[in-house]
Amino acid sequence: MKSLSSFHPGAIWPDNNGVHINAHSAGLLFHEGRYYWFGEHKIEGKAGNRAEVGVHVYSSDDLLNWTDEGIALAVSEDPESDIVRGCIIERPKVIYNAKTRKFVMWFHLELKDLGYQAARAGVAVSDTATGPYTFVRSFRPNAGVWPQNLPAEERDADSIAKAKVSVGTKTNDPTGTLTPLAIHLAQHEGGQMARDMTVFVDDDGKAYHLYTSEMNATLHISQLTDDYQDHAGIYVRAFPGRFMEAPAICKRGGRYWFIASDCTGWDPNPARAAVADAILGPWTELGNPCVGVNPENGLGPEKTFGGQSTYILPVEGKKDAYIALFDIWRPENAIDGRYVWLPMRFTETGFEIEWRSEWSL
Ligand code: GAL
Repeated sequence: MKSLSSFHPGAIWPDNNGVHINAHSAGLLFHEGRYYWFGEHKIEGKAGNRAEVGVHVYSSDDLLNWTDEGIALAVSEDPESDIVRGCIIERPKVIYNAKTRKFVMWFHLELKDLGYQAARAGVAVSDTATGPYTFVRSFRPNAGVWPQNLPAEERDADSIAKAKVSVGTKTNDPTGTLTPLAIHLAQHEGGQMARDMTVFVDDDGKAYHLYTSEMNATLHISQLTDDYQDHAGIYVRAFPGRFMEAPAICKRGGRYWFIASDCTGWDPNPARAAVADAILGPWTELGNPCVGVNPENGLGPEKTFGGQSTYILPVEGKKDAYIALFDIWRPENAIDGRYVWLPMRFTETGFEIEWRSEWSL
């Protein structure tokens, strides 16, 4: 394989075998001098929107040339397993725990044949970056735990009972008849819904799980336990009613910077940005960070160049170099989904992500 010397957003991205990289809704990990790219392995056709294989991992030392390291987390053949072939595994992200020396993978899990009703978080662990990872469990986070920023007067049994009646067995609210708070209260005892997600390790070693909850209406930001394998019981509701999906986050200059999408399934929509001085908020929205047009599809900021956010990668050893990662979905032929990596340009008050058809670090 001829080696690549620049990024080509939206193009076929060949790995060391000349095969288009198969790691969608990427999560990146930098460990001992090497980058690892985890993502959904997709197969051809619409079937590729379900997990038929598992989570694929690649490694690289320059972010351009990637070596296929195989399947990090394989789907199970056991029909009793939460991750049986045919379930949905989305947005896998891996973080390294220095205390336990384990690599911990978090992902969004939908149980087989239930569409997007289960709304669970999944955890898997490994002693090595590339795996194989062992599935630990899946669950709805923070059962019985109140968010830090929910006022005491909203935390009563009466409101829970009323919310449970209005929400019933619903797992989606396309017509918007329920309030995010009612959805939240109805899930209080059983655990909060968890769909689109990312994980983030802060400078002090504390890790956080950011997940789209409350039928996608509200983002939850939840601290993880010291071993990164569970929730620590400290979390907040952020952006209630804003339907933030595809969350991505980084820290720069002591502040937290956030990218997300609106909620329109595989179809692109305008990107969102936000900033906070503390990861648990309060968060301030900044508006759409995208600038320019992707000439390949004619789409600009109103459609995030045809993509949807998935991760923000700080480039090691390069001051102020942050890359925003997006997916261009191809739900009719999932394996043909494309990757858009673009540099973030920070300004006094925010950041911009400008389209480039070719660029290098
Ligand atoms: C998107 C979400 C993807 C996937 C898709 C399914 O909104 O970001 O991760 O769940 O919906 O339609």
